[in-house]
Amino acid sequence: MSLFVTFEGGEGSGKSSVLKILNQRLIDEGYPVVLTREPGGTPIAEQIRNVILDKANTDMDPWTEALLYAASRRQHLVEKIIPALNEGKIVLCDRFLDSSLAYQGGARGLGIDKVLAANMFATEGRFPDLTLFFDLDPETGLDRISANSAREVNRLDLEKMEFHQKVRASFKQLVEQYGDRFVVIDASKSKEEVAEEAYRAIKSRL
Ligand code: TYD
Repeated sequence: MSLFVTFEGGEGSGKSSVLKILNQRLIDEGYPVVLTREPGGTPIAEQIRNVILDKANTDMDPWTEALLYAASRRQHLVEKIIPALNEGKIVLCDRFLDSSLAYQGGARGLGIDKVLAANMFATEGRFPDLTLFFDLDPETGLDRISANSAREVNRLDLEKMEFHQKVRASFKQLVEQYGDRFVVIDASKSKEEVAEEAYRAIKSRL
């Protein structure tokens, strides 16, 4: 049985390390799992990612940015996600559509509805089966990132705190809007507790 699970949250919410833990745990249990991420996930989509996240591209127009995310998503979906789901696999994806809605639509101010409409071309209306939102106060998240030298700080990490607060508020709005697809996870808890909660949310849908 296929399942499309996306991991969403602000910077430093720990979603990426929890994703790796869950990937291993599900593989150990014998499930066919594909771990992937956005922006990126395939060679073409990764090239688009490099353009979006390049620290030199400070002049990038907000709609250019939103459309590049959507283009990267399209390639990723067609080349990797949909084939894996058609083969009955579980796809664990680090960020997806909701990141565009929260970052570009909400925080960047393009409008959640408009960014959703632009993404409908990219996704043909396909939504994840389950979205785990790792909720954390942005100050704690950014402190975690600066304490973790292995993780490179990218252009978007450097945005003002106000921006990250807006990202969080936008994710909360999406949870209200799409309640049945979302599970909210308190990401201020220990990594083990957070991973356990996320694991239970996925298992209950399998
Ligand atoms: P990444 O290094 O993958 O960060 P993280 O570990 O936080 O996922 O960088 C991805 C950045 O891109 C992150 O700041 C969120 C942002 N983003 C958007 O603004 N819109 C999107 O649609 C996606 C997928 C990501």
